[in-house]
Amino acid sequence: MSSPAVPRIEPAPTTDVERLVSLACRAPSVHNTQPWRWRYAGGLLTLSADLSRRLAVEDPRGRDLTLSCGAALHHLQFAARALGWATDVERLPPGPDETELARIRVHRTDRTVVVPEDLELLDARRTDRRRFTAWPVPGHRLDDLCRLAAPWGVRAAAVSDDGARFRLELLANQALTALELDARRQAEQDHWIGRGSADGIPPDLLPDEPDPLQARSRFRPGLLEDTRMVLHGGDRVIALGGADDDVAGWLRSGEAMSALWLEATREGLSVVPMSQPTEVEETRREIGRSVLGGAFEPHVLLRVGWQAIGRGGLPRTPRRPLADVLEVQGPAWGPKVPSRGGFRPWGRTPGAS
Ligand SMILES: Cc1cc2nc3c(=O)[nH]c(=O)nc-3n(C[C@H](O)[C@H](O)[C@H](O)COP(=O)(O)O)c2cc1C
Repeated sequence: MSSPAVPRIEPAPTTDVERLVSLACRAPSVHNTQPWRWRYAGGLLTLSADLSRRLAVEDPRGRDLTLSCGAALHHLQFAARALGWATDVERLPPGPDETELARIRVHRTDRTVVVPEDLELLDARRTDRRRFTAWPVPGHRLDDLCRLAAPWGVRAAAVSDDGARFRLELLANQALTALELDARRQAEQDHWIGRGSADGIPPDLLPDEPDPLQARSRFRPGLLEDTRMVLHGGDRVIALGGADDDVAGWLRSGEAMSALWLEATREGLSVVPMSQPTEVEETRREIGRSVLGGAFEPHVLLRVGWQAIGRGGLPRTPRRPLADVLEVQGPAWGPKVPSRGGFRPWGRTPGAS
């Protein structure tokens, strides 16, 4: 009698992990801060939050930071699958280092299918802020996108009916006005614009002349015209969230956001996150209550629409060199981040998966 076949488990060689992490780092992040650190040691890949890249004013609790790390975690899993690797992910592993968000085992399976179209998607995805066309995305396509969130344990809802859209627009504008009057926030935003070849929003997306009297038009019309975030006729909005507004939920929402964004890219749809309404806590709560009917805690809102056919491509935003974000097999990685207040308020649940 033959014993059942034991699956072959082969940890990924370092060069493959380097490639996967490099693809994972194509993920979107708030202000292109790329607030992640990776370590590969003993066949185990670790993803941690880089708290030095947190936006202290706009994102004190680290929601956007964790969403960004979640997007990178999904990009990693997506790239691995496209290259024929399997991944086992443990989210928020227990341990003294509170910045640790996930441990990933990457191993070869007997399946060796490579999906080049999926790899191309990781390169093709962009935050394209140009104004969408007036053609609304049909409801059934939004529903299909929303369904992609479920496997990540994330709730998603399209804000479709006119009343809810109107309320959302009102609340979003209120949040924007409050944030525009905040000089510290403006300074923080400026800090991440035009920083050079590794991070931040690139110089060719910068305004020619910021107009201090009219903050909303501080970005020149064109590439960034919609940064002021008013919802236009064809824009549709999807809200992602969960039962709680905590690190475990944000990480998963980041993964779902990435899954949804890549699929939208495949279908020729454009996705642009709007973080301002969720950055003002009162507004975020009110969106949960009056726009989503209390169904779940919103973590991020995504504008979804079509770009005009024939529009040129956008330049790629820069990424940090791999050596700055990935440490391979070192005994200790970088300066140890002490466990301190400022991370704990994230509300991490130890051992949550
Ligand atoms: C959590 C999160 C929040 C974001 N919020 C906004 C936003 O409010 N407005 C915006 O125009 N882009 C927003 N972005 C998009 C980032 O600016 C963008 O991902 C980054 O500049 C990298 O560019 P890329 O997506 O084209 O690679 C957000 C992205 C993430 C992940």
